[in-house]
Amino acid sequence: MEFFLDTADIQEIETGLEWGLVDGVTTNPSLIAKQGKSYLKTVQEIARLVPGPVSGEVLATDFAGMMDQGKRLAALAENVIVKVPLTPPGLRAVGKLLEQGIRCNVTLCFSAAQALLAAKAGAAYISPFVGRLDDVGEDGMDLIEEIVSIYQNYDFDTKVLVASVRHPIHVVQAGQLGADVATLPFKVLEQLFKHPLTDIGLDRFLADWQKTGKSFED
Ligand code: G3P
Repeated sequence: MEFFLDTADIQEIETGLEWGLVDGVTTNPSLIAKQGKSYLKTVQEIARLVPGPVSGEVLATDFAGMMDQGKRLAALAENVIVKVPLTPPGLRAVGKLLEQGIRCNVTLCFSAAQALLAAKAGAAYISPFVGRLDDVGEDGMDLIEEIVSIYQNYDFDTKVLVASVRHPIHVVQAGQLGADVATLPFKVLEQLFKHPLTDIGLDRFLADWQKTGKSFED
């Protein structure tokens, strides 16, 4: 299972890379807007920093605009994956960009039917938004289960990228269901480390050794 960071914050990405736990990065217009920097330059900076796939999203919603922006995003670096919304022009762009060797991540997926369309269009990744489904009273992880089982029935190359992750349980369930990737806000990556018994246990080990009055070398 791969972990991507869902962020445009360079410091968060650097820390995740230092930890050796980040396989890629996903961005979106909201995340880049929070940084207050140039759109294309931010995607380029991230793609230079991260060895793995970096998703940069088109801002256009029409086919020609998505093709133009998709090509410009892909030209920034070899590891850029073009993120397009799950709309008819978006999926048309997925197929056309693929003909030119450009891989796409189809975003804003909220149903298994949409995920099936994205796979048929030739998406490299499908991004179902689990947290936003939870927010409207559905179970986002049910959608992951549906998509994984449908994709398993066929020979699709599309990877299931669990997005809109809000807490560690989403990540664990994504693993249980066999999702290929979870894209995590940095806070959730930090939360994955946490267990009170780890902290208590570590304090106790160190206190016990300190009581001996001896050092590491003794
Ligand atoms: O990057 C897409 C997705 O992960 C957004 O998550 O928290 O805005 O629903 P969220």
